[in-house]
Amino acid sequence: MSVHYENIRRVTTQRLVEMKRRGEKISMLTAYDYTMGSIVDRAGIDVVLVGDSASNVMCGNQTTLPITLDQMIFLAKSVVRGVKRALVVVDMPFGSYQGNSREAITSAIRIMKETHADSIKMEGGEEVIESIKRVLSAGIPVMGHLGLMPQSINRYGTYAVRAQEEEEAEKLIRDAHLLEEAGCFAIVLEKIPAKLAEQVASELTIPIIGIGAGGGVDGQVLVIHDMLGLNNDFSPRFLRRYANLEDIMDKAIKNYVKDVKDGDFPSDKEQY
Ligand code: KIV
Repeated sequence: MSVHYENIRRVTTQRLVEMKRRGEKISMLTAYDYTMGSIVDRAGIDVVLVGDSASNVMCGNQTTLPITLDQMIFLAKSVVRGVKRALVVVDMPFGSYQGNSREAITSAIRIMKETHADSIKMEGGEEVIESIKRVLSAGIPVMGHLGLMPQSINRYGTYAVRAQEEEEAEKLIRDAHLLEEAGCFAIVLEKIPAKLAEQVASELTIPIIGIGAGGGVDGQVLVIHDMLGLNNDFSPRFLRRYANLEDIMDKAIKNYVKDVKDGDFPSDKEQY
């Protein structure tokens, strides 16, 4: 599928719910700049996530914690300029909403006003429900995020599969219902057992988008650098690589370096 922009119909939060209702799977990828945003959009992606995974893949941090609200806004503005059809979701970064609901609404309004994105994403259930409700009450669509929540990595100590024990699985199900009742338009479930994710997707009417959560959910999301093979040293079981761009880029750059060193580039045809 590729998009013809003449007869464009934008993806909305309502359309995602309709897609779930008719059993059409939802595709979602991250993007962090104008070029990637426009490439994934023209290829027909439904949802573009300006994820705080930018902290890892764009900034080289070990975790998502250091990225700031200003940095997320800078990236999201660029992505939005490239996207004409997909729904754009922007991650609220660590520290921009956990303090209290006033801080949450201030951060969310900044994102919506300054980036022109369609919606925001927040990690957590019961612990942040007041903040989520406050953001929703301002008319800002919120995508939830449960299971492995990278902003809480220092509490877990590991990126292992979450909710394998009954107690955590039960809390996740309660949290998912809480998010739906509050008015979230979708939920990301990250790295949890496939059976549990399927149960949540069947109990809720809003779309459940999985990453490492199996095929029984309503859609899938991946980090674009991972699925394009731009960071080949990251190989979790859930990841399918659709290209090996790291190798392609490495070869191209080595050829360029060689051509420059040899005086082969630029040729007569490549100058004025
Ligand atoms: O930041 C991100 O890329 C995410 C996805 C892993 C869902 O939150």
